[in-house]
Amino acid sequence: MHVILTGGAGYIGSHTAVVLAERGHTVTIIDDFSNSHPAAVERVRAITGANIELREADLTDSVAAAKAFAGLNADAVIHFAGLKAVGESVAEPIRYYRVNINSALNVLDQIRERGIKTLVFSSSATVYGDPQALPIDETQPVGVGLTNPYGWSKAMIEQIIRDAAVAQGDLAAVLLRYFNPVGAHPSGQIGEDPSGIPNNLMPFVSQVAVGKRAKLSVFGDGYKTKDGTGVRDYIHVMDLAAGHAAALEHAQAGVTAYNLGSGEGSSVFEVIAAFEQVSGRKIAYDVAPPRSGDVAEVVANPAKANRELNWRTELSLEQACRDSWKWQSQNPGGYLGSAQETP
Ligand code: NAD
Ligand code: WQD
Repeated sequence: MHVILTGGAGYIGSHTAVVLAERGHTVTIIDDFSNSHPAAVERVRAITGANIELREADLTDSVAAAKAFAGLNADAVIHFAGLKAVGESVAEPIRYYRVNINSALNVLDQIRERGIKTLVFSSSATVYGDPQALPIDETQPVGVGLTNPYGWSKAMIEQIIRDAAVAQGDLAAVLLRYFNPVGAHPSGQIGEDPSGIPNNLMPFVSQVAVGKRAKLSVFGDGYKTKDGTGVRDYIHVMDLAAGHAAALEHAQAGVTAYNLGSGEGSSVFEVIAAFEQVSGRKIAYDVAPPRSGDVAEVVANPAKANRELNWRTELSLEQACRDSWKWQSQNPGGYLGSAQETP
């Protein structure tokens, strides 16, 4: 297949590009580098030896989107592009809705105009809000009681895709609801490179381990969980990338949603312990008040994806910590730092 990856220079997109290229698919990346670096695509080319085309475009601009899609004759699109910082979305809701919704609309226009038949969309477990029952399966309500514009934008785009698929009857759309993506490519060549202070636990922990930040704040230890800290379903980004390949290869006409998670919940203290063990570094932390909008526990029931996509996670939290540590210790300044060091 020829697959367009919007936002393919980003964290999840770059790892998915590796997996798709290694499975023999042709990959074209469209990105505006608002939260990524072209060096990531260079690294993907180096890892895979594949000739991956890169087109720079802001997909919120319909003219730029049309130009970026022109002449590609693609079979499928994986739509990763968008903004993803939950706290920032509360402070800047209009920007979040503008970027996430407009880029999705422009991508859907291109899909229809060019007769592309397969779409995979990066949704999120965040569409379930505070889950009614654990583990979460796909029958749980979506878009109920969400606490931030980022989550709402994902729920809204899911609905937009459902409506678009009714009108474009031969479209096969897959909504992938990711749980908590962590880890990096085992080579340490590509990984998560957040700008500024990381919002998410794993990049924060790895920056403490490498000495870039003094200590982690653990957001609450009074939850009703195994040790009082928040519990999440961490999924290795290489497993997540493989989930995209499976979704492309099994997509059926209509719209289908899948949870991509491991089915295992890990606490913040368990993540700290696993990271300390694989890195040999102490992770200094203190306990801070709970973060607004956080829920106690989010764990996937991935049975539907296991069954229908013939996919399951294979890599452990320890492996994810090991790979994050390798990426972080080999690239302490991320892509930009390493680009500056390279003559
Ligand atoms: P990322 O920020 O690393 O990747 C997103 C990419 O989209 C970046 O390369 C960015 O430059 C690009 N982009 C943003 N706006 C664009 C625009 N207007 N035009 C073209 N490109 C644009 O994020 P990620 O972690 O790789 O996430 C990918 C997708 O998965 C996002 O849609 C995100 O919401 C979703 N998701 C992420 C997580 C997570 O925890 N990382 C969890 C669930 C869902
Ligand atoms: C994990 C756990 C925190 C940072 C977010 C989005 C979700 C999805 C994935 C995009 C929680 C705790 C964190 C820190 C901490 N993204 N924590 N100290 O909040 O589960 O999910 O990213 O779709 O939509 O909401 O992930 O990594 O921020 O937090 O104690 O400095 O770590 O309280 O229990 P979260 P996270």
